[in-house]
Amino acid sequence: MKKIFTLMIFAATFMLTACGGQSGDKPASTEKPASAEKTAVEQPTAPNGKKILVVYFSRTGEEYNVGTITKGNTAIVAEFIAQKVGANTFEIKAETPYPDGYEECTALAKRELESNARPKFVANVDNLAQYDTVFIGFPIWWGAVPRVLLTFLEANDFSGKTIVPFCTHGGSGLAGTEREIAEACPNAKLLDGLAIVGKQCQDAPDAVRKDVDAWLTSLGY
Ligand SMILES: Cc1cc2nc3c(=O)[nH]c(=O)nc-3n(C[C@H](O)[C@H](O)[C@H](O)COP(=O)(O)O)c2cc1C
Repeated sequence: MKKIFTLMIFAATFMLTACGGQSGDKPASTEKPASAEKTAVEQPTAPNGKKILVVYFSRTGEEYNVGTITKGNTAIVAEFIAQKVGANTFEIKAETPYPDGYEECTALAKRELESNARPKFVANVDNLAQYDTVFIGFPIWWGAVPRVLLTFLEANDFSGKTIVPFCTHGGSGLAGTEREIAEACPNAKLLDGLAIVGKQCQDAPDAVRKDVDAWLTSLGY
């Protein structure tokens, strides 16, 4: 019930900001999207000998409740996870980068959700087969996973792998995203996900790192 209430509160706030209620307190971004290429950071194998990958999608530019950011909220959480568990990271990048402007981006994301689009992504991850566990991170967009993440999930085979979802959000929490991921990766084992308020990543990263560490410990990582 609390979850539904939180989602409703966010939806009301989000509609106001996304539909023009937002005034000039968030300056238009002059940042260009990060270059559209694959990033893979090699790190040691996790202590339990299992190979772990942290896959994430994240956006820079003008963002909900944080002004203009140069490192995405989800990217920050992804880095914390990778550091704690000793994982490689892989960033999903849309072939056509999402707009830096918040309102433009929300409008586009809404159209994509309504049409259940599958936007293309740049470069796939190398040798997914070598990983036992894949953390999958994303921002909540309109109460769902960004459609480009679904394109990525559907383009890969996660059969037999353990998937651990995590998201950043403006109030919705994970919403129905664990179900979306389970549907896109039918033969994977899904662990309990983590939801972090996006603003915290920018304002209080040390506190976020602690929350991430506690969650990972609770899952046995
Ligand atoms: C297109 C778009 C749609 C969003 N929709 C929601 C939403 O439905 N619920 C929510 O809590 N936050 C929503 N947000 C806020 C983001 O989930 C939040 O700011 C997140 O931390 C952004 O992560 P990122 O910097 O990694 O992209 C939305 C943001 C954008 C840009």
